[in-house]
Amino acid sequence: MKPVLVSGIQPTGKLHIGNYLGALKNFVDLQDSGEYRCHFFIADLHSMTEPFDPKDKRLQVLELCADYLAAGLDPAQSVLFVQSEVPAHSEFAWILNTITPVGELQRMTQFKDKSLRQEEHINAGLFTYPVLMAADILLYDARTVPVGDDQLQHLELTRTLVRKFNAKFGNTFVEPKGLLTRTPRVMSLKDPLKKMSKSQPDGCIFLDDEPEAIKAKVSRAVTDSETTIAYDPDRRPGLANLLEIYSALTHLEPKAVAAEFAGESYAELKRALTSLVAEHFAGFRAKKKELLASPDTIAKIFAAGSKTAAATANATMAEIKRKTGLSG
Ligand code: AMP
Ligand code: TRP
Repeated sequence: MKPVLVSGIQPTGKLHIGNYLGALKNFVDLQDSGEYRCHFFIADLHSMTEPFDPKDKRLQVLELCADYLAAGLDPAQSVLFVQSEVPAHSEFAWILNTITPVGELQRMTQFKDKSLRQEEHINAGLFTYPVLMAADILLYDARTVPVGDDQLQHLELTRTLVRKFNAKFGNTFVEPKGLLTRTPRVMSLKDPLKKMSKSQPDGCIFLDDEPEAIKAKVSRAVTDSETTIAYDPDRRPGLANLLEIYSALTHLEPKAVAAEFAGESYAELKRALTSLVAEHFAGFRAKKKELLASPDTIAKIFAAGSKTAAATANATMAEIKRKTGLSG
């Protein structure tokens, strides 16, 4: 049997090129490799930990479903599902909560960052977020979890919970491993020392951006006051970020990209990057529009995937209940 792979993205707004290069593109490549039994889900329960208007949530979920399909995830090859349609995720998260040390959760960088960002809404869900994530992974016995590097600390907690669960209730789970892409951390175009994040939209290239918007953002990307093009992430992070994005979309090494543009101006590199990005996502944009014109088709695909996922998750849940003594 091929090893199981699980990953998810939160439906919290438009995807940017950081989400794409750090996660979604990798999802598609891993699916197409044929080496894994892939499960990709919409992490809608996770997204409730951030402030939202209930009126928007269905649409955000639908959009992310369309993003998955438009990027190339294929229901014939991968199980595509919506987290909240598989209740076992919440049920198992509760059980894992009971073996999770509070101290481990207090160390989580994402919890600290988000608590600062949403001071008015520091909810318990934000705190126990990594526990739900562990449930997402373990219900499917996933061995491989492709994510951006900001999620590695959460995966480490999953591994800790596997050891705790096995020690307390008997050998049940195997520790999963994270899988990073070549660009696990795309930086903001506005501030190359910070990661690209939708909380700072003008530093993001969104996958839906039309060529004009891409041009405006790339041409204003912060670089440095030098004049030559060279790959030096420590001293010239802004330029390095542009070279890395170019590299990820062409499969050339960043140094090779720098060599290709040696002697050219920053403006020239930015023009080339603008065309590359605009062209790379042209098919995606068209496909996404087409998909969103028939939301029922999207809903059917994800309903079928959720049914398949639930069958696996429920079987694991039955075993968990036996092991923990909740059922005979
Ligand atoms: P989120 O939108 O936080 O659910 O992120 C979805 C996925 O994109 C996760 O695997 C993140 O690690 C990844 N990701 C988010 N921002 C970036 C970034 N700037 N660079 C690389 N990966 C990212
Ligand atoms: N926490 C991830 C993020 O913010 C999304 C996520 C939720 C996830 N559950 C997961 C990723 C399980 C991998 C596996 O991006």
